Amino acid sequence: MGGSRRTIVVVIAVALAVLMLRGLFGGRREQPTVSPTAAARSVAPPREVLGAGSCSSSGCHAAAVEGHAAWESAYTVWASRDRHTRAYRVLHEPLAKQIVAALAARDPARPQPPAHENKACLGCHATERRAAMADGVSCESCHGPAGDWLVAHTLPGWKTKGNTLGMVDLADPFACASQCGQCHIGGPPAADGTLHEVSHDLIAAGHPRLTFELRSYKAAEPPHWHDRFTAAAGEAGPLDEWALGRLGGLEAYLAQVAVQSAAGEQGPAAAGHDGAAGVWPEFTAFDCYGCHRPAVAPLDRGLTVSVPPAGKHLGVPKLDPMTWSLLSVILPDEAAQTLLAFRSDVEANWWRPPSQSSIEACRRAIEHARPGVAGRLAALPAAKLAQDVVAGIDATSWDEAVSATRALTALVDQLATTRDVSAARARLATLRGLLEFREADLGGRRVRFNSPQGYDSASVQAELQALAESLQ
Ligand code: HEC
Ligand code: HEC
Ligand code: HEC
Ligand code: HEC
Repeated sequence: MGGSRRTIVVVIAVALAVLMLRGLFGGRREQPTVSPTAAARSVAPPREVLGAGSCSSSGCHAAAVEGHAAWESAYTVWASRDRHTRAYRVLHEPLAKQIVAALAARDPARPQPPAHENKACLGCHATERRAAMADGVSCESCHGPAGDWLVAHTLPGWKTKGNTLGMVDLADPFACASQCGQCHIGGPPAADGTLHEVSHDLIAAGHPRLTFELRSYKAAEPPHWHDRFTAAAGEAGPLDEWALGRLGGLEAYLAQVAVQSAAGEQGPAAAGHDGAAGVWPEFTAFDCYGCHRPAVAPLDRGLTVSVPPAGKHLGVPKLDPMTWSLLSVILPDEAAQTLLAFRSDVEANWWRPPSQSSIEACRRAIEHARPGVAGRLAALPAAKLAQDVVAGIDATSWDEAVSATRALTALVDQLATTRDVSAARARLATLRGLLEFREADLGGRRVRFNSPQGYDSASVQAELQALAESLQ
């Protein structure tokens, strides 16, 4: 902890000591007599959301980026550069209006409030607090509601790891990915009734498809943190971040499926009504290509549905490959077996809601295996790991090729401190080029939900193979 941090801690500690004492010993829930905002903090009920304004004083997180540590300028970076600040504003834009209009047209029995007042949208596009809504996705959406920890986290001796006040330990990739996953994969409704689900209905209405992976999404963010997952930093490296991040994503997926499945068990009549979350089968739990086929006209790509004619069997949809690929690479055998058994059971009986106990068994298997994941992959020979990744996917699926590329990116980043990886990086760049969407792929509605037009799986497979061999 630097000297400036210590000074700030002392200042804050003194300024807030009175409030703390009031809060802890003076009857937490009494009518406030001090200034309204300060009082709101001191009498905060558990897990109250305070809004980004409470993080922004210049002694805290609103310093200039230049010449300050990441933690000191976190607010500045977020407020000036982070797309999450736009999340609420986009609900006023034409695409949002279009989505809501299409939803209303799909189900005329269910009236749809405008997007910026719609419970189906606000859960992920705003922080759970009316007054701070315009902030979009702000500090507490990721770090957890600050009501209980705002004061405590400025005091000497504070540790985020293991705290019980609700600050999420985002330095733990599993916790981080499951937190991001609440919006980038989906999850149960929030306490205020807003939903966290981009269902197939929303996608068919024009919402972008969600395809989260922790490392690539963190890399796409303007960072307001220091990167602790460089192999050089020691403790945990890029491979740990990738593997634990994938498991955190799976955790978010399972939490979402638990809600959808519970709704599905109550039958189609109850599902999806009165703004309730979930329905089963929820198509987004599955591989889009189980039902959709590549379209012919370039600009229609992604919007044209091609399902087998009525009466013909749909085939067996696979569970979403972004979430389910490469689990036997990430996990030790026993845990992988539990998850793959769940997967094949759900795929074989996909119209039937998976039982809560089978979902629970998966979550327990992940929980149990998690401590052993860190360090395990880094200890394997790189060439073997790379071969396992390439052998573990079907490159004719764009999703699986993306998943493998993300794994190999982590592997190459891991190797970067011990050898020259410039050739491998060049191959990764080629791969990303082959997987990327171009203007023409986005279609008339600019919805990026399918694989790019003319996805060339043979070249992708060859490139993946060559990359793996180059790591011998
Ligand atoms: C599960 C969380 C979730 C819900 C619920 C949700 N969204 Fe989104 N939305 C996202 C995420 C995440 C993105 C960004 C996707 C990406 O780029 O990876 C997004 C992107 C968008 C975009 C594109 C933004 C842009 O900058 O182009 C629009 C518009 C949008 N959402 C509107 C809506 C509307 C309208 C609703 C309600 C009917 C809604 N969303 C519900 C998570 C959600
Ligand atoms: C989209 C999610 C998200 C939002 C919104 C967000 N953060 Fe973060 N924050 C993160 C992640 C991820 C980390 C990195 C955790 C790690 O690796 O240690 C982080 C790290 C930090 C750190 C530690 C920096 C360091 O490395 O020393 C601070 C301080 C912080 N955030 C403050 C804020 C503040 C203040 C806001 C609001 C202005 C905010 N964050 C908004 C995700 C978010
Ligand atoms: C409360 C919901 C929520 C949480 C939590 C959240 N996000 Fe987001 N995120 C969104 C929404 C909504 C958007 C779309 C914003 C827009 O473009 O208008 C978005 C956009 C993004 C984008 C830009 C995507 C693009 O297509 O350019 C990245 C990158 C991203 N989020 C990363 C993260 C990471 C990493 C975390 C966790 C540390 C995280 N998000 C946590 C809701 C959330
Ligand atoms: C189990 C089969 C099935 C799966 C899996 C599935 N879909 Fe669909 N999809 C359909 C059917 C049937 C329709 C037409 C009825 C409707 O609009 O809901 C459709 C319609 C759509 C539409 C609207 C097309 C239009 O022209 O308006 C989009 C977009 C879409 N799906 C995207 C996706 C995406 C993205 C995924 C994967 C996350 C996916 N679908 C997974 C069966 C499926």
